[in-house]
Formats: sequence, structure tokens, C-alpha cells
Amino acid sequence: MRETIVVLDFGGQQLIARRIRDLHVYAQILPYDTPFKKIRSVNPIGIILTGAPRDAAGEDAPKCDKRIFESGIPVLGICYGSRLMSRMLGGGVKRADSREYGKTDIKYDTSSPLFTGLSENLACWMSDAYSVDGLPKGFAAIASTKNCAAAAFADAGRKLYGVQFHPEAAHTQKGTQILKNFLFGICGAGGSWTMENYIETAAEDIRKRVGKGRVLLALSGGVDSSVCAVLLDKAIGKRLTCIFVDHGLLRADEARQVKEVFQGTYNINLVFADASERFYRRLSKVSDPEQKRKIIGETFIRVFEEEAEKLGSVDFLAQGTIYPDIIESGNGDTAVIKSHHNVGGLPENVGFREIIEPLRELFKDEVRALGEALGMPRHMVWRQPFPGPGLAIRIIGDITPDKVKTLQAADKIFRDEIAEEELDSLIWQYFAVLTDIRSVGVAGGGRTYDRVIALRAVTSVDGMTANWAHIPHDVLGRISSRIASEVKGINRIVYDITSKPPATIEWE
Ligand code: XMP
Repeated sequence: MRETIVVLDFGGQQLIARRIRDLHVYAQILPYDTPFKKIRSVNPIGIILTGAPRDAAGEDAPKCDKRIFESGIPVLGICYGSRLMSRMLGGGVKRADSREYGKTDIKYDTSSPLFTGLSENLACWMSDAYSVDGLPKGFAAIASTKNCAAAAFADAGRKLYGVQFHPEAAHTQKGTQILKNFLFGICGAGGSWTMENYIETAAEDIRKRVGKGRVLLALSGGVDSSVCAVLLDKAIGKRLTCIFVDHGLLRADEARQVKEVFQGTYNINLVFADASERFYRRLSKVSDPEQKRKIIGETFIRVFEEEAEKLGSVDFLAQGTIYPDIIESGNGDTAVIKSHHNVGGLPENVGFREIIEPLRELFKDEVRALGEALGMPRHMVWRQPFPGPGLAIRIIGDITPDKVKTLQAADKIFRDEIAEEELDSLIWQYFAVLTDIRSVGVAGGGRTYDRVIALRAVTSVDGMTANWAHIPHDVLGRISSRIASEVKGINRIVYDITSKPPATIEWE
């Protein structure tokens, strides 16, 4: 039986499940209102209640099933989760008289099992305007700050713990030790979970759910859908069919690589739908970026449905949704951070089939680790983000097959040189843009009037903000001369030195 910590997600943008898995204990994220019966069915060794983007004082505050506090399973409430536990067990919550936000000095009672091995005086990360007001019966304070007499509290007998700060935040000193104390000291975890174990259990879960059914996956060649395909292949083999829609707007060689890896290396049932002509036709003379996105989105769905139709009855539609997609799209109780780009993806209700999302609990770097554990090639697992509408939004103005070829050639040179310099792991995203500007140049003693290529490279953590990347000038120089001499129709190359904001990463 897998050792599991259940993380009840109240919708804060929390990293707690990640931190726990980093400590080699499996953490399963469940919605905050999961009935206790379901929680008990995974036999957790501990339960964590996360923070939330709201307060625990109001009547409408989201609550968990109260039976978890009576189950004997150790519970750790974090921030909102701690105040909710206090409130549900008879304590009070109030708006703090003096708000503590950010790095705050804290004094720990190091005789508590939660704080074993810590120094008494450290700093922690607070992020709320609310505080407990009167502890429930049986609880005692185990840490305090200047403005908060019960910054952490516990009923050690019942193994119920609450911390009003965030142990998972980088600014909380010894936060990892606090988590370790909860996992290994209080819950008795062994800490032997690895990605290899995850593959086994995830594959088993998939097999149970799918039974003798058939699964369809829209494979884009991106990291998430590719890892999802290989995991499903391991679980159910030939009962999986992948459809790859080639819209003719991928980077050079990419469509071919997808074919090679999925049909060659993995021998997965792959329907390779070359629909480039159809996309080019529909995009002909269209210059508006949003219009391009719309056409590509619609055409993609149509092609996918036509191909799916040919396969006959299919029971499940698999999607490579990962945990940040769920946070970013807003799952009801989560503050919406950005509306998720879903162009080139499928609408939620494609056909009538059940949705299966084997990666929905994982963060991006965990998906990459899973890909590596599955033995996938590095170039697939470490691929940079690529927009669904592909090169269509990197060709300014209307799209023609010739322009696609020109951009692919310039982009390939840029990518090859960056890889050659081993700069790829330092840059978040880098690509060429074919502008609609023509400028005068000279070649072979004659006048040219050709297009301008812009090079774009940014560093970023999540794509929400970005800085332009400081690629060494000699590398830029080499890329520029190669593009000018090797790519027909280009006589000028510029480097984009704008960050986001005010610009966006893509030009369209
Ligand atoms: P922007 O240009 O908005 O890009 O700064 C942020 C990130 O999103 C990607 N992007 C898209 N991805 N469909 C996608 O799937 C789109 O329409 C789209 N537009 C931008 C972009 O590549 C960057 O990683």
C-alpha cells in the first residue's frame, strides 16, 4: 500500500504537495470538500489543509468534512487551514488587530514534535489578515509572534496541528524541517516514494479506470501531452490511440520527430493527420492575430473530430492537463491568475467521452521528472513552451507556406546555435519572428529589398512576466550572419530587447 498524505486543496496557490513529494512522500491533492469516506479510502497517514485566497471568518467559508478531525489521522492545517480547523472545533477567528504580512519573527516551543530540532527564534512567512481568536478545547499555543500569541497551536494527543504561517514558503526558515517533523515524526512516513513508484501506481490507477475501454489522446508533441502518451502506453498499450494534427505551423523537423518517437521508439497507435494544406487555405489572407487563433482552434477541433470519428467508439478522452493548468483556469474556489490559453486544444466536452487526466496532480518539473523516469528522450522532456497556434503568431501579417518555410529555417539556426553554446537551459523561451517589414540591403553588389527577422529570447519563471535574455553579442552576431547568408529572402536581423511587461513574449 502506498504511503499517502492527502492535501485538501482550498485553492490557495500552494506548493505544499510539491514540497512533500520532494521529501519522497506521495501527496495526493483532493478538493477541500471531499467526503471523509473517500479520503479514508486512500488510507492516508496524514492530512494537510492548505491555505486559501479568502478568510475563515465568514459563514460561507469553505469547510472540510468534520470527521477528519475525529479520525485519529494526524492533521496539519496551514494558514487558512489552521484557522478553519480551529473554528470547526470551537475556537474563534477574527480580523487581526495588527496585520502581519511577509517575513515575521517567530518563537517556537521546541518541545512540540512539530518543531523538534528547530532553534527557538527564527523567521516565518505570514500572509493573512486573520488570526485565531481563542483556541478550541484541548489545544495549546506552540509558537508565537509579536502580534499573535498562537502563531501555531496543537492538540498533540489528537495529533491535530495548526500553523498560521506558511512552512512551504522559501522565506520560512527551517520550513522544510517543520514539514519533515510532521511527515516523519508525527505521521510516521518512511520517505521512500519516487517517480518510479509513481509510474507503477499511476499505471495501475489508469488500468483500473479504463478496464477494457479505449482511450484517445490529442498529441501535440509538447511536454505534457507527450509524457501523458508514454504513461498511458505503459498502462494500457494498444488500447490507446493518439491523434496528432499537423497544422503545418510547427518548428522545423518537429512533426517528423513526433512520428519517429511515437511510432518508432514507442510503437504507439498514432494517427498522423497532415492537415497543413487545409490550415493554410483557411488562414489565407488573414492578418489579425486573434482571427488566426480562432481559425486554428476551430480547424484543429474539426480535424480531430473527423479523425476520431474514423476510429469508431472510444470510451475515454485523455488530456495532459497538469496541476498549474487547473490553478490558472480557476477551479471555482481558486483566484483566477490568468485565463488559460487553450487555442489548439480541445473544448471540455469533445463528444460524449469521459475525460481522463493522468497528470492533473503534477507540477511542470514533476512532469519532466516523470518523462525522464519513463526513459523519454531529453529533447522531448526539456522542450521549451510552444504556443498552440504555432508559427502562425510568429509570422506578422498573413501566412503563406513560403513564409512558414523561411521562418522555420531562421528559427532552426537560432535554436541550433543556442544549443551549441549550451545556453538553452538558461533561457525560458527563444524563437524567431518573421516581421512584415521589408528593408533595403546589399548582396553581391546589388540592391535587395527583403524581410526582417526578429530574434526573441526571454528568461521567465512562469511566462507571466519575463526579462529579455542577455545572449552574448558574439553568439548573436554568428546567428545573424548565418541567417542572412543561409535564409533566402532575409537581409536584416534585429534582437528584441523588451521585457514583459510592457511587451508580451510572443509578438502577436
Ligand atoms: P505572451 O505572449 O502572452 O505569452 O506573453 C505567454 C506564454 O504563452 C504562450 N502563448 C500561447 N500559448 N496559445 C498557447 O497555447 C496561444 O494562443 C498563446 N499565446 C501565447 C507563449 O508562447 C508564452 O509561453
